Amino acid sequence: MSASSTFCCAVRLAAKTESGAVREYDIRPAVPDDAGALYRFGEALLCESSFFLRSPGERARSVDEMRTVIKQIHAMPAHILLCAWQEGAPVGEAVAIGGDFKRDRYTATIGVGVLAAHSGHGIGRALMRGIELFARNKKLRRLELTVMAHNTRAHAFYRQMGYLQEGVKRDSLFVDGVFVDEIMMAKLLD
Ligand SMILES: CC(C)(COP(=O)(O)OP(=O)(O)OC[C@H]1O[C@@H](n2cnc3c(N)ncnc32)[C@H](O)[C@@H]1OP(=O)(O)O)[C@@H](O)C(=O)NCCC(=O)NCCS
Repeated sequence: MSASSTFCCAVRLAAKTESGAVREYDIRPAVPDDAGALYRFGEALLCESSFFLRSPGERARSVDEMRTVIKQIHAMPAHILLCAWQEGAPVGEAVAIGGDFKRDRYTATIGVGVLAAHSGHGIGRALMRGIELFARNKKLRRLELTVMAHNTRAHAFYRQMGYLQEGVKRDSLFVDGVFVDEIMMAKLLD
């Protein structure tokens, strides 16, 4: 049985916008039938932000490839792709990829992204909490990530989620014509 199917974490999040309107978001693990929507979401996210490792087209080259990625994540015990939906469309996601080997099997690498139009409403926080719940359920010890040094917002966000800075990968990425540092961060789970 897959990791995602044994992990029950469908939640509904209600967020108030500046105008006072209430937006509802559903958060649940991705399933293969989400491939089309998640392919389009991924392209939109990568087009609007250069803070990710991948550029547009590098996450999945087609809906079929996206479906394969979701199935691969499902098949692995310590992997999960958690998505936030609003009115049937994905607006944010977080992924955890657990270590494949005996010696790193208690560590997972994570990533998170929320569409700009929906950021600041608590979706990122809710996704990170979901990933942490999954990780604790799987008895993982460590969640780790990297964030571009100039991405001050995400850096502050991860600090608020309890991640500590462990080091800097100097000039590890080439973004928009310049080399940028990545900050390594991690959180240990009790
Ligand atoms: C970084 C990101 C994931 C945060 O998600 P989000 O849904 O906007 O964040 P939330 O609304 O859940 O905010 C949670 C906390 O993050 C911090 N935060 C959010 N926006 C912030 C800002 N503009 N400045 C500083 N801290 C901020 C706050 O601590 C906030 O807690 P608070 O609401 O109690 O103040 C999201 O904005 C994003 O995807 N950005 C673009 C892509 C990106 O940088 N991804 C990370 C790549 S490593």
